[in-house]
Amino acid sequence: MCGITGYIGYREAYPIIINGLQRLEYRGYDSAGVVLYDGSQINLSKTKGKVSDLIEKVTGQISKKGNLGIGHTRWATHGVPNDVNSHPHTSQSGNLVIVHNGIIENYDTIKKELVNRGYIFQSDTDTEVLVNLIEEIKKQDNVKLGKAVQIALNQVVGAYAIAVFDQTKPDEIVVARLGSPIAIGIGKDNKEFFIASDASPFIEYTKNAIYLEDEEMAIIRLGRDVKIRKIKDDSLVDAHIQKLQLNLEQIEKGGYEHFMLKEIYEQPHAINDTYRGRLLRNAAIIKMTGVEDNMKRFLNANRIIIVACGTSWHAGLVAEYLFEDLARIPVEVEYASEFRYRNPIISEKDIVIAISQSGETADTLAAIKLAKSKGAFVFGVCNVVGSSIARETDAGAYTHAGPEIGVASTKAFTTQITVLSLIALRLARAKGTITSSDYRYHLQELELIPKKVKTLLTIDDKVKYIAGIYKGVSNFLYLGRGYNFPVALEGALKLKEISYIHAEGYPAAEMKHGPIALIDENMPIVVIATNKGHYDKVVSNIQEIKSRKGQIIAIVTEGDVVVKEIADHVIEIPETHEAFTPLLTTIPLQLLSYHIAVMRGCNVDQPRNLAKSVTVE
Ligand code: G6P
Repeated sequence: MCGITGYIGYREAYPIIINGLQRLEYRGYDSAGVVLYDGSQINLSKTKGKVSDLIEKVTGQISKKGNLGIGHTRWATHGVPNDVNSHPHTSQSGNLVIVHNGIIENYDTIKKELVNRGYIFQSDTDTEVLVNLIEEIKKQDNVKLGKAVQIALNQVVGAYAIAVFDQTKPDEIVVARLGSPIAIGIGKDNKEFFIASDASPFIEYTKNAIYLEDEEMAIIRLGRDVKIRKIKDDSLVDAHIQKLQLNLEQIEKGGYEHFMLKEIYEQPHAINDTYRGRLLRNAAIIKMTGVEDNMKRFLNANRIIIVACGTSWHAGLVAEYLFEDLARIPVEVEYASEFRYRNPIISEKDIVIAISQSGETADTLAAIKLAKSKGAFVFGVCNVVGSSIARETDAGAYTHAGPEIGVASTKAFTTQITVLSLIALRLARAKGTITSSDYRYHLQELELIPKKVKTLLTIDDKVKYIAGIYKGVSNFLYLGRGYNFPVALEGALKLKEISYIHAEGYPAAEMKHGPIALIDENMPIVVIATNKGHYDKVVSNIQEIKSRKGQIIAIVTEGDVVVKEIADHVIEIPETHEAFTPLLTTIPLQLLSYHIAVMRGCNVDQPRNLAKSVTVE
């Protein structure tokens, strides 16, 4: 997965493309490049490293002039990140220039054919193969760029989003998508067009956008129009222009040092936005159209299968407790990447819930398609409105967390849990597995969560102090039980992904079956020991750690006295219903990993080797 930007119009393209690339760096940041057409020739610069490295390289190297250009920020799949493998790639004649997000699986076969025809390749990428294939078709068939792109894409196997132009005809850009997103921003009177992997690069210029569907391509003609065609059969598609809801403020840091910190602090607001209009406590109603419209299916479901990846998978694990505990529906939680390849048994009476912040994760998308092909009803829980997963699912509920830019997911996780709590409660009410007073109590507690998260955030300095003590260690263990076992997994994931400290999450009782061997005076162990849910058992686990001299950082409920006596550090969370404790216990763990990573000098928002949106399998 990579980020693509492009511009054609009357403004200088360079600043638009560069700013856009910086906004898209969440999609990958191991190399970056830009190409501009200055009215007589193209000027191209690309480099290993971040967009900031590109800016440095461009200055003094090439002219920044031009009203047409495309740019790219890369997350390497074919070919190591280096200058040559960076995008854009040019065709052999130097006329065609392309940026590409995705993988061309049969690139090797095509490359061999092109080599036989005299093509010489500079890079190890599949993208250079694609641009030369387009060039060869254009030459052989004597067709225009758009047609050549279409013929080429019908020959390739794989996934892509591309933007390509021909410097001998610099009044159009051709874009196409299969599996990776492409948005086109439409300027006034078709005097300018913007291209990007999502709408964030052009939000300050236009609110009108077209999102290409899979297997569609668009020929963007300056001063004229955007012609969309089906790649397979060449049929014309009506351009559906959407009004963007996104605003600039949402995608800027707003005074915070990092996006991750901003997003941690946004959680009270984000959780509130998630249940706004859905949780009507006074009337004791939960209103979610996607659930109401399909209530029969939910009530008749044999089981719910949850598919997701990464942090979203952890939210799925919390949902397993919620659905089974409250609504008494059997739940299985699967890594989407495993589910799609293990010939799963799925029936028409199964409901598959796909959870994804970005709505673009390739494995989750493939799992959805598989489940649908077997007749299951698929419900999506996504954050990004209009994303591929949101469109592919039969029904769904958005989390409304707002854009999440930090690669380490924070507010997406808590808002996913909020949506899943609402669904579980709604189903519990419909099934009669919860009493009306208990239901009301749950609604009341859920509504109080944003306020409690806000209070909880005031412990930031204390967490920072603890982070300072443990910033130098090599290993961390996270333990939790019940609802808080997935939180232990999530806490460990947060720490390892941004601070590069090895961390493992475990169900507290399982510690005895292996991890206990790791414990000595150098091992910090985060234990979630809230006053509900097996408190006494967790206290015993804490004793076991202490007698092996482990350093304990305990997350407890305010007013706790027992754990305070044993643990080295104690962080208190406000009292709430057990089912909602993950929404609170997660917060100090996010802050802990954030502060440790900052103290270790790590790039918190762009950890090495990671990307926010994983659109390759
Ligand atoms: C990547 C991100 C994670 C995220 C996972 C699933 O690995 O770095 O933060 O949890 O993808 O992404 P999704 O958008 O499907 O929730």
